[in-house]
Amino acid sequence: MVNMHQGEEQKKLDVLSNEVFVNALVSSGRTCVLVSEEDEKATFVDPKLRGKYCVCFDPLDGSSNIDCGVSIGTIFGIYMIKNQDTVTLEEVLQPGKDMIAAGYCMYGSSCTLVLSTGNGVNGFTLDPSLGEFIMTHPDIKIPPKGKIYSVNEGNAKNWDTPTAKYVEKCKYPTDGSSPKSLRYIGSMVADVHRTLLYGGIFLYPADKKSPSGKLRVMYEVFPMSFLMEEAGGQSFTGKGRSLDLIPTDIHERSPIFLGSSDDVEEIKALYAEEAKKEGSA
Ligand code: AHG
Ligand code: MN
Ligand code: MN
Repeated sequence: MVNMHQGEEQKKLDVLSNEVFVNALVSSGRTCVLVSEEDEKATFVDPKLRGKYCVCFDPLDGSSNIDCGVSIGTIFGIYMIKNQDTVTLEEVLQPGKDMIAAGYCMYGSSCTLVLSTGNGVNGFTLDPSLGEFIMTHPDIKIPPKGKIYSVNEGNAKNWDTPTAKYVEKCKYPTDGSSPKSLRYIGSMVADVHRTLLYGGIFLYPADKKSPSGKLRVMYEVFPMSFLMEEAGGQSFTGKGRSLDLIPTDIHERSPIFLGSSDDVEEIKALYAEEAKKEGSA
């Protein structure tokens, strides 16, 4: 296994959880291609065991939080492949809007599964005594506007103008509204889960050091954007709708702004303003 963490530590649990997911997905007989954060290349399942699904996954998200016991998770998105026998990598590089299902599991004070098959979003909680996930959060809808913003503000000196202006507005609103609260866990699963339930916005923008942002399109940006839209929210890349992106590489990265519709609308307006200025310059 090649270390895909580029400068960041790959933990034992990253490796172990990847093995668990790959083995379970291959032996299910339902998959033909697997794309994992932990594997440099896509895995093409042995033809004898092939099914019709391509699963893209981040087996363990938030690995910097493992050693201090803070919530971590697993993120996944699923595509249907037209012909499993002749599937190629090109067929895997589909826009997020073509996903047929997406979800995440959060390993926190309880174990939560949030899932969409393209018909709304439902949340389930593991009942360890039954060994079953019970639907505890049917038909999750994100509030249209929130009071929380979530971003690694330590990167502020390298932000672009729209992101910097947006965060300034969160702290010093000019329309008479109250400032937003800042919450940042550093596990996308946990930060997005809170955003989905309480409303608000999660940002991982581009910056001068990481011009494409940090988060990966196929197994972080797409599944979370799919869930957010299904819950009535929005997800934006700084250029357009996140789910419209067409990846050219399985480990491609993208900036992401997702959450309550009204909040994402505000950052979209700031990017549009900036693009107009650049166009007239
Ligand atoms: P991973 O553990 O799968 O590499 O993902 C970490 C990601 C994501 O969970 C989180 O939103 C982000 O990294 C936090 O990054 P910073 O530490 O740069 O804020
Ligand atoms: Mn991750
Ligand atoms: Mn990971």
